[in-house]
Amino acid sequence: MKRVLINGINGKMGQALKRLIEAQPELGLTFAGGRESGETVDFPFDVIIDFSTPQGAQEAFALAKHHRKAFLTGTTNLPETFLFQMQQEEKIPVFYAPNVSLSVYFFTQLVKQAAKMYAGYKINLHEIHHVHKKDAPSGTAKNIAAAIGFPTQEVSYERIGETVGTHSATFSTPLDEITLTHKALNRDLFADSALHIAKWLCTCEKGFYTMKDFANFKLKEGKK
Ligand SMILES: NC(=O)c1ccc[n+]([C@@H]2O[C@H](COP(=O)([O-])OP(=O)(O)OC[C@H]3O[C@@H](n4cnc5c(N)ncnc54)[C@H](OP(=O)(O)O)[C@@H]3O)[C@@H](O)[C@H]2O)c1
Repeated sequence: MKRVLINGINGKMGQALKRLIEAQPELGLTFAGGRESGETVDFPFDVIIDFSTPQGAQEAFALAKHHRKAFLTGTTNLPETFLFQMQQEEKIPVFYAPNVSLSVYFFTQLVKQAAKMYAGYKINLHEIHHVHKKDAPSGTAKNIAAAIGFPTQEVSYERIGETVGTHSATFSTPLDEITLTHKALNRDLFADSALHIAKWLCTCEKGFYTMKDFANFKLKEGKK
């Protein structure tokens, strides 16, 4: 059993993570404890899963390094300097993804392919999230934009009710229009994926990992 410290335990993602760990003992993960802003940690753990704030993510990263344990963050809108720091990490396994869902990762690959196939088409990227979301456009939309060289400032967005997360890429000419859409129906999509990534990260060597590494692992695993 790997012991998980959830950073941002009282948040929407923190609560979903705790519930799913407890509901799925077959995952081989156990809830070691949670942390909120300013709290100290006095219990043992093997991996930190952080979904909090940029400040919270940096505090949790320092904690993971101090204890030489694996660190996974899905917190968005992280400062470039911190991203660089995580990318340079050599003492612990570190994972970061602005969207931890494997299906969103593959969706981004589809959009990349489409951008090549529909070269010359006008592109529009649009995202919709819940009204509580602090950053806009979403980290996922920025990621998709970067993947196809689309200017981030041209990504359009809406904040509607409790929408979990919808991302669309539309390719158009005056004659036709193609839209690819990924719609997350439940926050558990991210929480469940984060738990699978955390379990895998505990088996990884020291260094920095992204969704590409996890997707490669899953694809290889599927071929066994
Ligand atoms: N990568 C992905 O796939 C993915 C998916 C979903 C969400 N996210 C991202 O994950 C983050 C959290 O999302 P959420 O919807 O769970 O937000 P949320 O409901 O606002 O929860 C954030 C939690 O973090 C706590 N927190 C604030 N500062 C902290 C600190 N310094 N140390 C520890 N905890 C701290 C907050 O406490 P207070 O309320 O007391 O401030 C709150 O309980 C956001 O950046 C969001 O964009 C990413």
